[in-house]
Amino acid sequence: MQLEILGNANTVSAQKGALVINTPQAEARVTVYSPTIIRVCITKQSEPDASFAVMQQSQELLPYRESANEIEMNTSALKLIINKSPLRFNFYTADGKELSRDDTRFGTNWQDSRVINYRKLYPDEMFIGLGEKTGNLNRRGSHYVNWNTDAALHGVNDDPLYKTFPFFIGLHSGLTYGLFFDNTHKSYFDFGATTDEQTSWFGADGGDMNYYFFGAQSIREILKDYTWLTGRMEMPPLWSLGYQQCRWSYMSAQEVLEVATKFREKQIPADVMYCDIDYMDGFKIFTWNKSSFADPKGMIDQLKSMDFRLVTIVDPGIKIEEGYKQYDEGIANNYFATYPDGEPYTASVWPGRCHFPDFTNDKVKEWWGAAFTALIEPGVEGFWNDMNEPAAWNQNIPWLVKFGKRFMPEIRNVYGMEMAKATYNGVRNILDNKRPFVLTRAAYAGTQRYSAVWTGDNAATDEHLLLGHRLVNSLGLTGMSFTGVDIGGFMGNPTPELMVRWNSLGPYTPMFRNHAAEGMVRREPWEWGQGNEAIIKKDIEQRYRLLPYIYSGFYQSTQTGLPLSRTLAIDYTDDEMVYDIKYQNQFLFGDSMLVVPVISTELTTNVYLPEGDWYRLSTGEKYKGNQAINADAPLTDLPVFVKAGAIIPMQNVVQSTSEQGDGILLLHIWNGNEPTEFVYYEDDGITYNYQNGEYYKRTISFNPEKKSISLSAVEGAYQSKYKTIKLVMHGFEGSIKEIDNNTAVMMINY
Ligand code: GLC
Repeated sequence: MQLEILGNANTVSAQKGALVINTPQAEARVTVYSPTIIRVCITKQSEPDASFAVMQQSQELLPYRESANEIEMNTSALKLIINKSPLRFNFYTADGKELSRDDTRFGTNWQDSRVINYRKLYPDEMFIGLGEKTGNLNRRGSHYVNWNTDAALHGVNDDPLYKTFPFFIGLHSGLTYGLFFDNTHKSYFDFGATTDEQTSWFGADGGDMNYYFFGAQSIREILKDYTWLTGRMEMPPLWSLGYQQCRWSYMSAQEVLEVATKFREKQIPADVMYCDIDYMDGFKIFTWNKSSFADPKGMIDQLKSMDFRLVTIVDPGIKIEEGYKQYDEGIANNYFATYPDGEPYTASVWPGRCHFPDFTNDKVKEWWGAAFTALIEPGVEGFWNDMNEPAAWNQNIPWLVKFGKRFMPEIRNVYGMEMAKATYNGVRNILDNKRPFVLTRAAYAGTQRYSAVWTGDNAATDEHLLLGHRLVNSLGLTGMSFTGVDIGGFMGNPTPELMVRWNSLGPYTPMFRNHAAEGMVRREPWEWGQGNEAIIKKDIEQRYRLLPYIYSGFYQSTQTGLPLSRTLAIDYTDDEMVYDIKYQNQFLFGDSMLVVPVISTELTTNVYLPEGDWYRLSTGEKYKGNQAINADAPLTDLPVFVKAGAIIPMQNVVQSTSEQGDGILLLHIWNGNEPTEFVYYEDDGITYNYQNGEYYKRTISFNPEKKSISLSAVEGAYQSKYKTIKLVMHGFEGSIKEIDNNTAVMMINY
């Protein structure tokens, strides 16, 4: 194996918006995307790799200063000092504080086609991010691989899982920075796991040393920059935020309808039913089983009459069967991934022998997208993309399989995202102005633009319950706000206590979906005994109460990239207790609810409350922050705390998001010493009209000094569905007040 270390700069020049530096080994290009984002791309290729993730173009090149030993480039926020001999890249804040730098000795280097970047490791440096990765919130001392994998039966420490997000945030000396390694090959991240205490490193099996350095000085700002670069989610359809009931599989239309009917009979709110693989004819994508799902439109019409939406699964594997439309068209047009001799690659998945669409090809994307008419015509509104790592039984897809010009090792990690993109574009087109719900298992950086994600096949254990929230919170650090886990655990049978506990976390999980594998016991809320059913029902009702808050939270994600489920590291970055493994599972749900996941066998728990004052949601009891407390955690009352000053809009319980409701918005406010604000957002929840100004937005402010609560003028042309606002005041002397929501600007003194 040959080792090459990036050597001395031979030539330095400005070319078409880039600072270009040549060394004997490679060419380095520096481009500026914003004052806080600088890209470094070191390539041996004449054309650097194109990006699947990045949505933005670089700006004009900034002036730089060159001396005998160095090149210096300054933005208003960042200083990049490039050592010329050997070529090393070192980032500082504008006022000269060292943020992160190449290891002086090894910097960027190659071992054959493998490209690696060694960086200086700071004594107190911590790392967070990388998306769906097991392990601790603070990833210092750990190493990871990105290689999208069908991680069925994964353990709580397994790596890799299904998704690739090569983006992390480094924290040291009170400073923050982010780094996005935009390389789709199998990649590696080592956050000081080699324990030499000198270096951290990342690299990939091929491609370029191509990274974006983020220098904003807060995690919020870094997330804003990262999601500016790679895109943000759109407003999800409101119904997809309701309770979702899934199972592998409801075996017939009758069974789907029976389950839906039971929700309504029992008055347990729900919005979504799923059809897993058995709705298809022989697992052939875009078909319906002719006997068990003989009349899909009839079934969906009945679901609609009960205010349910249907989500169906699609897998990428196309069954090899002459006369099957997708197979015939795929073969006729060369739409499948191939061996180098042009023969379509074949492997076994659910339908048996299959070919796999080449989703990197735009024509294939269009073809795939258009096929969704088979599902949309009868009325399907949600599209679940599974097995898109891509999965093939017992087989790693051979390295010589080709996707157009590129081979599998370069495409594997983006295959799932490209499938989700094809699905999203296709269904958006067919659904016209209606928002689709797309859910994918495999993903790459940027997937938030097209789809929600769930964390794949977890297990019915307490360890998985806790892991699930760490995965969700870590996905939130990579632009993915709309995320969920299989509540109850996919494999295995939960105890009733675990089912109840897991469900109580559902209201505080961005996507609230109950799912189970084939052969597992039934999971619907009424399967756990009457007492437990009542608890589960109450928790699902809590989800529906919180929808105005949750919807506004997603609006925030669309604007800022801030996730709905937030590790405490986002808002309390410098508080070392939030990284303590005892407390690392805690998270903020939206701006001001602190949720404490507790396993089902513990009925009290230690909670760390960060700075400020906190109220327990269920009792109103007040606590000082900056301390650990012991909290009761019976199965009927998950510990949830509300930050003093919190403004949380809620509604009364409805049975589904289609129900009009009583027109009352309950504006809950918890007393505090500091002024606070909440941006309330509403729109029709169904169409894209919000993009043309049909939304309702106002800022709600609480000012303890003036003893006032005020609502700003309404922005947008949408009429709120709430006619009345009821102020619900916690920790105040005043009582509930009612306000007419048509009032333009309001100042309420208490
Ligand atoms: C995969 C999915 C799972 C689904 C099953 C059958 O295991 O991860 O959610 O139920 O396939 O389609």
